[in-house]
This record gives sequence, structure tokens and C-alpha cells, in this order.
Amino acid sequence: MGKNRSTANDTVSQATPRAVQQQPARTDLGNLKGKKILVAYFSRTGENYQVGMIEKGNTHMVAEMIAQETGGTLFEIRPADPYPVGYRDTTRRAQQEKQEKARPKLAGDVPDWDSYDIVFWGYPIWWNDLPMIIYTFLENHDFTGKTIIPFCTSAGDVLTGQEGSFPQHAKGAVMAKGFGVEGKRAQQQPEMVRPLVHQWLQGLGLVSARK
Ligand SMILES: Cc1cc2nc3c(=O)[nH]c(=O)nc-3n(C[C@H](O)[C@H](O)[C@H](O)COP(=O)(O)O)c2cc1C
Repeated sequence: MGKNRSTANDTVSQATPRAVQQQPARTDLGNLKGKKILVAYFSRTGENYQVGMIEKGNTHMVAEMIAQETGGTLFEIRPADPYPVGYRDTTRRAQQEKQEKARPKLAGDVPDWDSYDIVFWGYPIWWNDLPMIIYTFLENHDFTGKTIIPFCTSAGDVLTGQEGSFPQHAKGAVMAKGFGVEGKRAQQQPEMVRPLVHQWLQGLGLVSARK
């Protein structure tokens, strides 16, 4: 694993994006009351960057924190053809999908999609972009009347920098300020990440200050 991990480090350090944070205009979503929240996420288990073999993905960890804070419903975005367990194999496939602007097929869909008002959706940064399957998810749904809120994990505390284009893919959506955090920290020090998640959600007006 040690050898594989250092190989993984090389790949990602070349691919790490500049620290770009999206600041979409709308930041206050008002009172949570009566709003139905979905927390959709894509996250890989297996061998990953700087964390070795994991049974719960980094983005999944953050998705759970958001669901706990907001009472939202968790939904895992799964590919019909699962990604390899190996890190290196996954980076190769992801790179090819990005080059081809692929839209990998989804396994399953959100039950009762129309009933949600707010859709959080999470993803790891892959090759300075979103995993192509996230574009599949955005383009396959009607977001009219919904607010979308991105969150992601990566090698840094950043979003991808691509988030500004999301409303083009998620037709009809209004986007609120997203959140990016280092995946390794979410995996290994969740107690440090939880307050950051709370602070972000509080800034959006979705949760109250801790007493
Ligand atoms: C295919 C692939 C490509 C990646 N590309 C990047 C990248 O460009 N920039 C970066 O900071 N991290 C990159 N990473 C690291 C992941 O973003 C990071 O490990 C993330 O927390 C994984 O989340 P997950 O466990 O939810 O899948 C990449 C990881 C993989 C597997």
C-alpha cells in the first residue's frame, strides 16, 4: 500500500486545482421550516489519495454531517459500472471519461425527486473537475424551483472552480454558496470538519448557532 500511495500522491499533486471558491450570489435560504432537503453525493470506497483503503468515502463523511445537521435525506449517486478499487486504475478511467466528456450511466434514481426543495450534492474533485457522473446526475434531473448547494472533498479546502457552470447543467436551479474541504481531514479528523460544516450551513441560514 505504501508504494501505491506515493504513486497516488504524485498523480494528484499534479492535478490539484488552484484555490478557487465559488461565491454565488444567493447565500441566505431563510428558514428551514417546511423545506425538504436531499443530500445527494458521489463518493468512492477502496484505495484513495492519502488515506489508503477506506470503507466509507471522504465525501460520504461530509454528506452524513450535512444530513445530521439539516435532517436531510441521504442519497448515494452510484455508477451503473462501479469504479475500480485501485486508485491508479480509477485515475486512468476518470481521465479518459473527462477527455471524452463521458456521461457514465447511473445505477438507481432518487425516489420522490419532485418533493425536494433544496438539493445538496457532493463529489470529490477528479482531475480538477467533477467526476463526469455528476454531470450525468445534473443533466438527468429537472431542477426547476430547487436550490442546489455543492460540496466537495479533494486534496485541499477548495471547490473545483467549475461550479459557476452548474446552472447550465442543472436546468432551472438556483445555486447557493458551496463548501470544499480536504478529504483526508474529513476521513481522519471528522471532529475538526464538523464545526466547519456547521459554520457554512449557519451562513446559509439553514441552521442556528450552537448554544
Ligand atoms: C480519479 C481521481 C482524480 C483526482 N483528482 C484530484 C484533483 O484533480 N485534485 C485534487 O485535489 N484531488 C484529486 N483527487 C483526490 C480526491 O479528490 C480526494 O481524495 C477526495 O477526497 C476523494 O473523495 P471520495 O473518498 O469521496 O471519493 C483525485 C482522486 C481520484 C480518485
